[in-house]
This record gives sequence, structure tokens and C-alpha cells, in this order.
Amino acid sequence: MSKDDDKELRSREWFARQDSYGFIYRSWLKNQGHPQRMFDGRPVIGICNTWSDLTPCNGHLRGLAEHVKRGVYEAGGFPLEFPVTSLSEPLMRPTTMLYRNLLSMDVEASIRSQPMDGVVLLVGCDKTTPGALMGAASVGLPTIVVSGGPMLSGRWKGKLIGSGTDVIRFKEAVRAGEMSVDEFMAAEAAMSRSAGSCMTMGTASTMASLCEGLGVALPDNGAIPAVDARRQALAFESGRRAVEMVREKLTLDKVLTRDAFHNAIVLNAALGGSTNAVVHLLALAARIGVPLSLDDWDSWGREIPCLVNLMPSGEYLMEDFYYSGGVPAVLRELSPKLRGEALTVSGRSIGAQNEGAEIHDSRVIFSYDAPFKPAGGIAVLRGNLAPGGAVIKPSAASPSLMKHRGRAVVFDSADDLKKRIDDPALDVDATSVLVLRNCGPIGYPGMAEIGNLPIPPKLLKQGITDMVRISDARMSGTAYGTVVLHAAPEAASGGPLALVRDGDLIELDVPARRLELLVAADELDRRRNALAPFQSPYARGWEKLYVEHVLQADRGVDFDFLVGSSGDGVPRVSH
Ligand code: FES
Repeated sequence: MSKDDDKELRSREWFARQDSYGFIYRSWLKNQGHPQRMFDGRPVIGICNTWSDLTPCNGHLRGLAEHVKRGVYEAGGFPLEFPVTSLSEPLMRPTTMLYRNLLSMDVEASIRSQPMDGVVLLVGCDKTTPGALMGAASVGLPTIVVSGGPMLSGRWKGKLIGSGTDVIRFKEAVRAGEMSVDEFMAAEAAMSRSAGSCMTMGTASTMASLCEGLGVALPDNGAIPAVDARRQALAFESGRRAVEMVREKLTLDKVLTRDAFHNAIVLNAALGGSTNAVVHLLALAARIGVPLSLDDWDSWGREIPCLVNLMPSGEYLMEDFYYSGGVPAVLRELSPKLRGEALTVSGRSIGAQNEGAEIHDSRVIFSYDAPFKPAGGIAVLRGNLAPGGAVIKPSAASPSLMKHRGRAVVFDSADDLKKRIDDPALDVDATSVLVLRNCGPIGYPGMAEIGNLPIPPKLLKQGITDMVRISDARMSGTAYGTVVLHAAPEAASGGPLALVRDGDLIELDVPARRLELLVAADELDRRRNALAPFQSPYARGWEKLYVEHVLQADRGVDFDFLVGSSGDGVPRVSH
């Protein structure tokens, strides 16, 4: 691009001015050592960084940003890095999901209010990817995602151990008396031994991989380990591409089409990806104006087998996945099922981009014709217990429980669960259905990741390792079990989960996609009429805004007033 064909760059509204405003915009930036050449009409690329010391999974993103900058400079752009809210899955309370929409608002406002023509999103830990993408989608500039990449494989006592997944296993082992607390603590350092995000196919790896499926990241974004130099090269190339995308006017709406979401959902099934992806993609689609429903999740993913042998569904980790071919090899294997013409940020279609990819280790990545597990997708259940839908991940569940009828053991809240689950007097057996409510978007608030309720210790001692569990909560992408999640509408908004009583019969039929509370309709009406309406305990602040505006799980848990886009228009001057 020459200095003369930059008229459409929005950054020119700041930097091309010859008046006092232009003086101010350029002068203050020059205190960072930028020469006048940087203001000559070259594309300005904002590097939106979710780095934080308190988000250890993203702790290396300042360094990665330097590699993005190199690529931007090489392509003739002007990189400017800026921080946004970071969401720390390991440390934030009560749950990062409470703040995903806050990050999205921060990103949207930061992009629109400042002089940039394209954006690189530096993300990693679970909610940072959807939060940043949702905000960027509500602006719509050319946008490319660079994920921080997974940690190296955890290793302890000669065995692979996976983030999250083995924490849950270890916790259950301590509860069952099979592991000492000292051993439990010794395993910590062995698990998280390098920079990066969780190295199981949890939410972070799922979302980083789905960015390839959506076409918003370059190939291999999902799996290159955080500390592998090829991650830095990917960041470099992404910076380069961001500049080219501005020149090509390759805006986000040209990439995030309905076909892109189709491909991401198919990929999620093949990866045995996190159930959290359901709410994130629903919210993202609504931001960019693509119609997408829970039923699309079921119908597009239904026939797709799980191709990867990765924790929590399998035995390997993201490092193995990358060496075995990574996401491109899976996309290549899925090619007959993909909408191959969907455009990606590389400027090529997803089909063309991955056609040369190969599987290097068939123990980790399986072929479509001889898959790792037959059912990889997310099953969407409906019935009188979840008229708005609920989800289950069959690849992480027990086949023997896919059709099950059992008596409800109800926990009214997360606190109630903690108080009673270990009680030896709890009236529960292996056929019971554990029900947890008031943990949805409004009830918790923020939709807690506790839908995989622990197995009561007295059943663990009998060797029971899985049971049917139902809630309006989410679960960690690193968790597993026969767990029905995201029941909508949630109990706190008057959903039928609020009507269940101890001893009620519940029927789960995953093949038929049914979830029923086997209680007569007139009795349910009586219970509904006796329900006390939800009283929000929040008089001010973020929680008040959240509870008043959050949508249910079947609409992505976004805020009602954030759905859609406001475009990339340049705001008026401030003084
Ligand atoms: Fe941050 Fe898993 S806790 S990626």
C-alpha cells in the first residue's frame, strides 16, 4: 500500500490530521520512540493482549507480542500493543464466566475507541478466547487470533498427567483414600512445568483449536506448545497476515460465516472438545449476526466421530497431538464433512489450506473410517426438565448410562452440595440421579463449572466411578462423566429444575435426546405455583448488571444488550 491509497484506513482519522488533534495523537505516541514514518498511512495493528501475572496460562503473552510486532513491521504495518481484562481460570472467583462478557466489552470499546485498522488477539486461558473474539466481532475489523499454546505434557511417576483431568482424578483418589495428601501436593509441580495453557483438550485447547476450524487463526494455532519456537514463528506470521488482511479488507464477517461455525462444530466433535464451546460459539455467532442454535450443535456434530485420543476423553496430551499432525491433520481427515470453501484469515479456504496435512501418529489421531470413539459430538437433550435444551458430551460419558432412569437426589446450591455430598447418611445409591440447581447464569451467578458433581465417597468406596448428574451449571472442559449440563431455563429463572424433589424419577435417553422428569403435569403446576421468585442479592456493581441482563445458556450466556455489532465507526473527538 502506498502512502496515497490509505484513505480508508480508520487510523487516518487520528494520524493524518494536520490540526492540533493530529499533533496530540502523534506527539504523545512519539514519546515511545516511534519515528514519523510510522504515521505515514501504514496499517495500524492493535495487539490486544490478555497477558497477566495472575493468569499464568497467559503469562508468556508479552513475549509472544514481540514476535507479532516483528511480523507487523516486516509487512509494513505499525503495531501497537494494548492490555485488556485478563481472565484467570485458576485464580478468579467465583468463576471466570462471570467476567467473559466484561472482557468482551473491554475489547470492543478498546478497539473502537482507538486508532487501529486491524487486530491481533493474544489469548489463551479458557474465557480469554471467546471473550476477546466476541468483543472483536462486535467491531468487525480484520482480526486474527494467536493463542498462547498449551503447556508441555505433565509427567509424574513416569506417567503422563493432564491439566485439570488428573486434578479431578487425584482429588477422587484422595477422597477414596488411595492417594496421600503429600503425594497430591507433589504432583502439582509435575503437572504445570512450562508456560502455556492447560494441555488437555479442555476449554483452552478446544477454543484455540476451534479458532482454526472457524478460520480466525493460522494453521497449527491450536496445538503448538507454548514454549516451542514454532509458536513464536506463528505469532510472527500472524502479525504479517494482519497487515495483509487490512490491505485485502478481509474483515471478520467474511471469515465468521455460518459455514465457519459449521466447520468449528464438526471439528469440536472430532476433537471431543469442551462443552463450554457450546455457549461460546452461540454467543460469538450472535455477535457477528450468524444464526446459530443449539440444534445446529446436535445435527452438525451428531454423526461425527471422535478422532483424537486426548484427555479428558483419551490418554494423550496436546504436545503429542501437535507432533502427530495437530488440528490440520484432523481437518484434513474431516474434509468430506466440512464446508471446504469457507474462507480463513490466511486468505485461503479451509479446504485448500489443510489438504496437505498428514497424520504422523495413529495412536493419537485416528482416521475418520476407524475413529477413536464413535460419537464425538455434543448431544442436545430436551424434555420437560430442559425445554430450552441441555447438553451432554457422550464421548466423556459412560455408555451404560446413556439410557438411564433413577431417583433424584437434589442439591439446592453449590453450598448445599459441599455441605452434604460427603455425608455418609446421604440417601443415594449407584442408580440415583444427582441434581444440582441454582448454579446457572443468574443463580450462581456466572454459571459455575461444577456440573460434574463429585461421586459421594460412600459410592466411590463401592467402586462406583460414574453416575448421571444433571444441572444448570457448566463443567470444566477437562472433566468427564455422564453429566448433563446447561439445563435451560435455569432454576433461578423459574426453569423446571427448580421443581425437582428428592425421590422423583428422572429419565435420561441420550439416543432419543430426551430428558424427562417423570412427575405428573398437575403436580408440577402445583410446585411451580408455590415457587418463590428469585431475589437477586446484588444491589450494585457488575453482578447487578450481570444478573439483570444475562441470557440463558441456549443463547450463549451473553448480555441481551451486547448481542450484535456496532461496527468500526470512528468516535468523535473528545476535546
Ligand atoms: Fe488457564 Fe486451563 S486454567 S488454560
